[in-house]
Amino acid sequence: MRRKVIAGNWKMNMLPNEAISMITNLAPMVKEADCEVVLCVPYTDLFYSLLTAQGTNIKIGAQNMHFEEKGAYTGEVSGKMLKAIGVEYVIIGHSERRQYFAETDEMVNKKIKAAFANELKPIVCVGETLEERESGKAFDIITNQTQKALDGLTNEQVTNTIIAYEPIWAIGAGKTATSQDANEACKKIREKIAEIYGQNVADRVIIQYGGSMKPENAKELLEMTDIDGGLIGGASLKAETFEKIVNYNK
Ligand code: PGA
Repeated sequence: MRRKVIAGNWKMNMLPNEAISMITNLAPMVKEADCEVVLCVPYTDLFYSLLTAQGTNIKIGAQNMHFEEKGAYTGEVSGKMLKAIGVEYVIIGHSERRQYFAETDEMVNKKIKAAFANELKPIVCVGETLEERESGKAFDIITNQTQKALDGLTNEQVTNTIIAYEPIWAIGAGKTATSQDANEACKKIREKIAEIYGQNVADRVIIQYGGSMKPENAKELLEMTDIDGGLIGGASLKAETFEKIVNYNK
């Protein structure tokens, strides 16, 4: 049985005082949650968020990291640095990073390896554009991205990788994939993992859906057979909305 992981992705939002008050409000609301609760916050909120989340069941993640450990990479933050302050999760290869910051599948693969080297749990994003979906290429695109992201990882590392299926056309668009479409895509990703790493590994990998998940559609999506959680942008900025997604089964 896979335990669901519900992760917020604040993107470039929330000042430290907002982070502190959001987490303070959220903590009592989610303390009975059956799923793993994660908030991926901007670098500048990490330390405040970690302190505020101490003693709660809320885990803190970053939204990106560099694959090198240290050195002359002005403006970058390494996995080792994240680990040193107590971060547990890191989003890797979000479509906004691929699109606006030219992240390639190869960089994504290196970052995942660096995350594991620093005992961070990677949440790896894959997803197709609207054009790719309309031309019938969605499954090829996402299985290919998955295969490249996981290349060279051990079975154990693959088991501990969280994949977030995020169709680009559904992100921040208010447009959600139907639960059937989202489930089918997650299933294809799982089949690809089974093909390369075996059914046992594939059965244990957490595959989330992301893209305009909100309280109104969370239950239906999260009850699908192959959707093991959510990566939530807009609806994770407020404790009241995020809490409803986390507690979708209550
Ligand atoms: P959204 O973002 O929930 O605002 O669509 C999801 C994401 O980009 O991770």
